[in-house]
Amino acid sequence: MAVEELRTVEAAEVEGRRVLVRNDFNVPIDDHGQVTDDLRVRAALPTLRHLVERDAKVICCSHLGRPKGKRVDKYSLEPVAEVLGQRLGRAVAFVDDVVGDEARRAAASLDPGQVLLLQNLRFEAGEEANDPAFAERLAALAELYVDDAFGAAHRAHASVVGVAERLPAYAGFLLAGEVKVLSRLLEDPPRPFAAVLGGSKVSDKLAVLSNLLGQVDTLVVGGGMCFTFLAAQGHGVGDSLFERDQVDPVRDLLARAEREGKRILLPTDVVVADAFAEDASRRTVPASAIEPGWRGLDIGPDTAAAFAAAIHDAKTVFWNGPMGVFEWAPFAAGTRAVAEAVASTGAYTVVGGGDSAAALAQFGLADKVDHLSTGGGASLELLEGRTLPGVSVLPSRGR
Ligand code: 3PG
Ligand code: MG
Repeated sequence: MAVEELRTVEAAEVEGRRVLVRNDFNVPIDDHGQVTDDLRVRAALPTLRHLVERDAKVICCSHLGRPKGKRVDKYSLEPVAEVLGQRLGRAVAFVDDVVGDEARRAAASLDPGQVLLLQNLRFEAGEEANDPAFAERLAALAELYVDDAFGAAHRAHASVVGVAERLPAYAGFLLAGEVKVLSRLLEDPPRPFAAVLGGSKVSDKLAVLSNLLGQVDTLVVGGGMCFTFLAAQGHGVGDSLFERDQVDPVRDLLARAEREGKRILLPTDVVVADAFAEDASRRTVPASAIEPGWRGLDIGPDTAAAFAAAIHDAKTVFWNGPMGVFEWAPFAAGTRAVAEAVASTGAYTVVGGGDSAAALAQFGLADKVDHLSTGGGASLELLEGRTLPGVSVLPSRGR
């Protein structure tokens, strides 16, 4: 896919016209209705600024959480309107409706340069079903469509695909930038290229591990999923996370790496605990000597140093997934070491996924990476080599 060829909002005549912008405002909101991480709101600003500065009538829409086609008050997008207004430096109106009369009236009465946010798209069953009648009503709110919801580009939902088929469609700057950066990892990354993967489940990451293995020079594996790798090498893993049905696929992956001359770095030492608890007893043991009754909750210090060295040796680094239970201080050191290496290396660094982004934020390093993806599932599916429905539906430049 020649992704640089996506037709962006820059090519659109937007002055005085109603523009429906699909955003990914699926942000964490606490019990007091406060947005606790506004990365996705800030990432949406370049496209929205472009539109308001050109006197478009801007209608933003997004999903939040998984309310499954019904109204669920805690998933209201209203708190996001306020945060968006602050970041944008102008009022953002909110309408507690998606495609009904209220939404239609609010959209129709916008003045040039004004911004409106609709209620959560997933309060409507037609959204996830990509129901044609729902897509028709959503499209009818506007004259043009801009997709800037990279984080939802792997969902073939009405606001992502259905509307793009019904209105002149353009990529927003966030979506176009994400696709370009992530696609480059699969095309011609500056070498050596190291990918650092963590997180709890191999089954979630096997497709991306397998596709990335064809591109990388070094694959670094930590987090809960490393224990299935250690098991595949014949080690006991005690009570650690372990996916028995993934042992054979992992063994195949290791054999393939060997054949193709790719380096796979696995933990050589592990921090183990006698319970899954922050205050559990813990000790550091060789990765080959995890005893029954003990479970690995972080990579050990030798491993952290080796992983950091691999990150510093690379010219391109992709990182997805924590190395351990970083939310608990006694098991955060491995993830912190990787985060610090990613933040300080001279390499071009790309970080994907909610957990890694949260870890960077926890360590105060979120602004120290070259590209912090707003997409979790979407970035992984792209790196698996799959075509994202929200990207393939968009016209390319010149069309
Ligand atoms: C995300 O948070 O990964 C995106 O907003 C997509 O959300 P979803 O997994 O609920 O479709
Ligand atoms: Mg750098």
